[in-house]
Amino acid sequence: MSGGNPIPVNQPLLDGNEEKYLVECIRTGWISSEGPFVARFEEQFAARVGRKHGVAVANGSVALDAAVVALDIGAGDEVIMPTSTIISCAAAVVRAGAKPVLVDCDADTWNMDIGAVESRITPRTRAVMAVHIFGLPVDMDPLLSLARKHGLKLIEDAAELIGQTYRGRPCGSFGELSTFSFYPNKHVTTGEGGMIVTDDDALAEKCRSLRNLCFKPEQRFVHDELGWNFRLSNLQAALGVAQLERLDASVAIKRRMGARYAQLLKGTRGIQLPVASTPYADNIYWVYGLVLDDWVPFDAKEAMARLARLGIGTRPFFWPMHEQPVFTKMGLFGGESHPNAERIARRGFYIPSGMALQEDQAVRVASALGEILR
Ligand SMILES: Cc1ncc(COP(=O)(O)O)c(C=O)c1O
Repeated sequence: MSGGNPIPVNQPLLDGNEEKYLVECIRTGWISSEGPFVARFEEQFAARVGRKHGVAVANGSVALDAAVVALDIGAGDEVIMPTSTIISCAAAVVRAGAKPVLVDCDADTWNMDIGAVESRITPRTRAVMAVHIFGLPVDMDPLLSLARKHGLKLIEDAAELIGQTYRGRPCGSFGELSTFSFYPNKHVTTGEGGMIVTDDDALAEKCRSLRNLCFKPEQRFVHDELGWNFRLSNLQAALGVAQLERLDASVAIKRRMGARYAQLLKGTRGIQLPVASTPYADNIYWVYGLVLDDWVPFDAKEAMARLARLGIGTRPFFWPMHEQPVFTKMGLFGGESHPNAERIARRGFYIPSGMALQEDQAVRVASALGEILR
C-alpha cells in the first residue's frame, strides 16, 4: 500500500472559539478554578444533558472517585459494574473500601450484559455503575427497573458518550450521579477534565466540597472530612465552553466517520464491525472498534503491530477487571470468568477515530486493514 504520514489514533479539533476564550483567560488573569469559565461550563454542560447541577473536576477518573464517596459507598458495600471498562471504575470503588462485583459484556454491543446483573445482587449491593462503552449506551430501561426494584443507586459513567442519547434522553441524565471525561479523544475536550452532574442539591454540594479539599465554608483550612484537590482550571473550562458550542457538529462528524468506515470495511473479511444502531440509540462512534473473527490466525496485539508498521495508530480494547494483576494481588475476582470480555480484550482494537480524521486517512486505514487481513 502507499505510504504517507502516520495516522494517529486520535486528533482533536480546536478551531472554534478555543483560542479566543483562552486568550481571554490570559488577558484577564483568570487562570485558576475560581475563574468565570468554570461556572459557565458547569451550567451549560448540565443544561445540555438536562441536569440541575454540574461540578467540574480534574478528569473523568476522579469524577468517579468523588461520586462513589458522595454516595457514602464504603466498607461492606458492593457495586455492580462491567468487567470490560477502564480501571477508573473499579479503582474508585476499591479505594472507597467497597467491592466491585463484575458482569460480562454483550458480544455485539460490547456494553455490560444487563441480563447478568440481577443474579449478582446481594444484600450488600448498594449501587450499579453503568458504563456506556465506545458509542452505544447501556440498555438503561431494564437497568433502571432493576435499580428501583432492589433500591440500588445508579452511578452512570458517560465519559465516552457526550452528546449521545438513550431513547431520546441524554446520556448523563440517568444516574443519581453521572460522570464525564474531557480527555482529548472525547467529543468535548479540555485537555484533561471531567464533570459530575446531578439533580440532587445535597449531592452536588457534597461533590463540590470533595473536589475542594472539604474546606469548611465558614472556616477555611478547617476540615470535618477529607477531600481532594480535583478542581478544573479556568483555562481548561474555557476550552470546554468552546468545545460545547460545537457538540452537535462533533457528533455529526463522528456519525459520518462511522458510516464511512462501515462502507469502506464492508468487504473486509475477518472483522466484526460496531453495531450501527439498536432500538434505543444510533452509534455515536466515540471510537471505531473492531474485533477479529476467531479464524483470523493472529490476535489484536499482532494486528496492531502490523498496522503500526503501515503507519496506522490503534489502541486495544479494555483489559477486563477480573484479569487485572493489581486486583488479583488484592485477592479480588479469584476464579471468575467472563468469556465475552476476555475474548474482545484479546481480539479487539480500535482504529483512528479522532474528530480531525480526513477522508484520505480513513481510506488508508481501510486499505491497511485489507492488507493485513488478506
Ligand atoms: C468509560 C470511562 N470512564 C472513565 C474514564 C476516565 O476518564 P479520564 O481519562 O478523564 O480520567 C474513561 C477514559 O477514557 C472512560 O473511557
